[in-house]
Amino acid sequence: MTKLCVIPGDGIGPEVVPVAVRVLEKLVPGLKTIEAEAGWTCFQRHGTAVPERTLKLLLETGAGLFGAVSSPARKVEGYRSAILTLRQDADLYVNLRPVRSWPQVSPQQDVDLIVLRENSEGLYVGIERMDAGTAIAECHISEAACVRLARKACLVARHRSARRITVVHKANVLPLTGGLFRDTVRTVLRDEGLDPLVDERLVDVAALELVAAPRSVDMLVTSNLFGDILSDLASHWCGGLGMAPSLNWGDRVALAEPVHGSAPDIAGSGRANPIAAILSAALLLRYHWRMPELAGRLDTAVEEVLRELTLANLGTTTTAEIERAVLQRL
Ligand code: NAI
Ligand code: MG
Repeated sequence: MTKLCVIPGDGIGPEVVPVAVRVLEKLVPGLKTIEAEAGWTCFQRHGTAVPERTLKLLLETGAGLFGAVSSPARKVEGYRSAILTLRQDADLYVNLRPVRSWPQVSPQQDVDLIVLRENSEGLYVGIERMDAGTAIAECHISEAACVRLARKACLVARHRSARRITVVHKANVLPLTGGLFRDTVRTVLRDEGLDPLVDERLVDVAALELVAAPRSVDMLVTSNLFGDILSDLASHWCGGLGMAPSLNWGDRVALAEPVHGSAPDIAGSGRANPIAAILSAALLLRYHWRMPELAGRLDTAVEEVLRELTLANLGTTTTAEIERAVLQRL
């Protein structure tokens, strides 16, 4: 039986996640869902952003759908970001962020790329200190993390019949960390016979290429912070944050998550776009549950819905209208 741990979170999370769950329920008969808490509201209620029960349920079900959480802008004693905690504690060591063109909402057609972001270390180890007036942040790059990231890259490359795999780094300035990242990832890709597809870019050049020639980009494999920034930049081509899905992925567990945050500016208005959450559910189907045919059906349904929107409706369509339209086409 397919099981799903549902973690709506804060803000628009509880508005878009139930839509994606109903879509999954229609596609996967007998899907068993279990709801769990996490986030800022949860912290205020229970004193922890990720209760033990939530982590336990996610590990038991092996698959989760996460909405978004709010984070305080300043340090709050005892608070740690729920999504960072879940990524660490469930060992979700890679983040898949596909970006493709969609009818009407994309500023350019025929973009189809995916960013693979290392999800467990880099600057996100969050080790900062003050030393005589200087703020210092540590960046950890380990060979083991690069190897497992590169192995996932091989899987994804075969899955999407990749035509190009670009390793993105900044080894010219940081030869030790950036160099270890580049060399380790490239070695694994070479050993897997993918060398003919592989090239590399410095992160600044990769950013320019994503803007100037997005159609030439296929797969980007990069470290945690670079992946965070480049994937948000790339999401411009799919129509913005309301359209951008992601999958946190480990060996046994996956947690689907729209790239957007809790969007407090529109929460409660009924206008949150649920497509990022729906497409995140499609990533669970495609990569984790290995049901690519169902994922394809869902992508097609979203494509049809977007094609049929009139330009006058774009941007004013409600969460409920999009849900109805997608469910109708499944
Ligand atoms: P955000 O992604 O929440 O919102 C940025 C802009 O995009 C806003 O104008 C918002 O209305 C719009 N937007 C986002 N998702 C949308 C959707 N589905 N449909 C329509 N419009 C959408 O980022 P922001 O404003 O920087 O952060 C708000 C809160 O979210 C903060 O507390 C932040 O820490 C948190 N956050 C959480 C993330 C997560 O849970 N993974 C990721 C990013 C931010
Ligand atoms: Mg981000």
